[in-house]
Amino acid sequence: MKTTISQAPIYNEQSVTIGAWLANKRSSGKIAFLQLRDGTGFIQGVVVKNDVSEETFQLAKNLTQESSVYITGKIVEDTRSPFGYEMQVTNIELIHESTDYPITPKEHGTEFLMDHRHLWLRSKKQHAVMKIRNEIIRATYQFFNDNDYVKIDPPILTGSSAEGTTELFHTKYFDEEAYLSQSGQLYMEAAAMAFGKVFSFGPTFRAEKSKTRRHLIEFWMIEPEMAFVDHDESLEIQENYVSFIVQSVLENCKLELNTLDRDISKLEKVNAPFPRISYDAAIELLKEKGFTDIEWGEDFGAPHETAIAESFDKPVFITNYPAEIKAFYMKPDPDRSDVVLCADLIAPEGYGEIIGGSQRIDDLELMQERYQQHGLTGDAYQWYLELRQYGSVPHSGFGLGLERTVAWISGVEHVRETIPFPRLLNRLYP
Ligand code: 4AD
Ligand code: MG
Repeated sequence: MKTTISQAPIYNEQSVTIGAWLANKRSSGKIAFLQLRDGTGFIQGVVVKNDVSEETFQLAKNLTQESSVYITGKIVEDTRSPFGYEMQVTNIELIHESTDYPITPKEHGTEFLMDHRHLWLRSKKQHAVMKIRNEIIRATYQFFNDNDYVKIDPPILTGSSAEGTTELFHTKYFDEEAYLSQSGQLYMEAAAMAFGKVFSFGPTFRAEKSKTRRHLIEFWMIEPEMAFVDHDESLEIQENYVSFIVQSVLENCKLELNTLDRDISKLEKVNAPFPRISYDAAIELLKEKGFTDIEWGEDFGAPHETAIAESFDKPVFITNYPAEIKAFYMKPDPDRSDVVLCADLIAPEGYGEIIGGSQRIDDLELMQERYQQHGLTGDAYQWYLELRQYGSVPHSGFGLGLERTVAWISGVEHVRETIPFPRLLNRLYP
């Protein structure tokens, strides 16, 4: 019976054949332990000299790292293995012999590993991070489908900018100028007026000259947008969604979290509701914490966000930022026009902002005023303004950055390990 490592437990005490690569190996005179991987999981194959042909034993002993094989044997329970099973090998068929695999079990520098990202992805830790990424995507679709949202795909090539004009990737669109999407939001607002509750999931691009552990040039965003939903209601949706993905990972990625040595007790605390703190109160908190020269009106940097997050053991919303430092489309607070109805959700443990969201301006005149103030002239926004012309309604939405969320839940230091092929300031290869 041909199967995969993930399905192997179904065949307990039976003989199966698995296509696999050799990840690692230990052997002595009479026994060889093969660490095998097939993409679906990892399993140990035990080859006992006296139980197999001389040829099979020699093949096992000399098998090189990342050689590919069809390996046959009996699946048996093994309580010492994190996977719970091992294979008592009876036969090995070599498919391809790998020579001089560059990534050995010893330590390598980050730049070396990034240059070999196409191979590094095979390693156990990287595999675990990608499986957690996959689970977050799966749980996202489940959460929004269960709550009657429609998945809408906004365009990637756009004629207008959503988040300011300084970080745009320009490209020619025949005779016109086009940009790679920074955010699908403006299109999602149009979609919300057509479908009520919508979400998107796609790549977004920021030509940001930032070289930090939180910034990618190309990253993936989940952007829900809801008609007839105000700012406070949107915060409830956000905390329920984030709690749901964390609990889904805890439930479905136990092996992966274990592989990454993630402190699960920290994730177990992530249940709605999350604390909320106003921008004003955050400024006061920062002053108390020793950031004496921060002034009202300044945006927060990574050290500020980390300091604020330290006061809480759940993600925390920072609400009502000064209008000046936020995007043109955010609705002013009706009680105080110098701040807007918005929130950033800051992850615990120093992972920074994972969500940016707001209630949107629904008044046509105010929107026209604001977008002109931001220097956004021309016809490119005509369609966006028309959304306020035909049955305008209160509406809110937000964007969750997938890679920062994966980094936080997985407990990996840098976002470059949370996307298969990261695009960084100085990296387009591989
Ligand atoms: O706060 P941002 O810029 O918000 C928007 O783009 C809104 N239009 C979203 C919306 O309301 N529909 O980005 C949202 C999130 C951030 O909180 C962060 O998690 C992530 O996207 N993000 C990045 N992740 C990795 N690398 C970058 N350069 C990122 N820039 C933003
Ligand atoms: Mg933001």
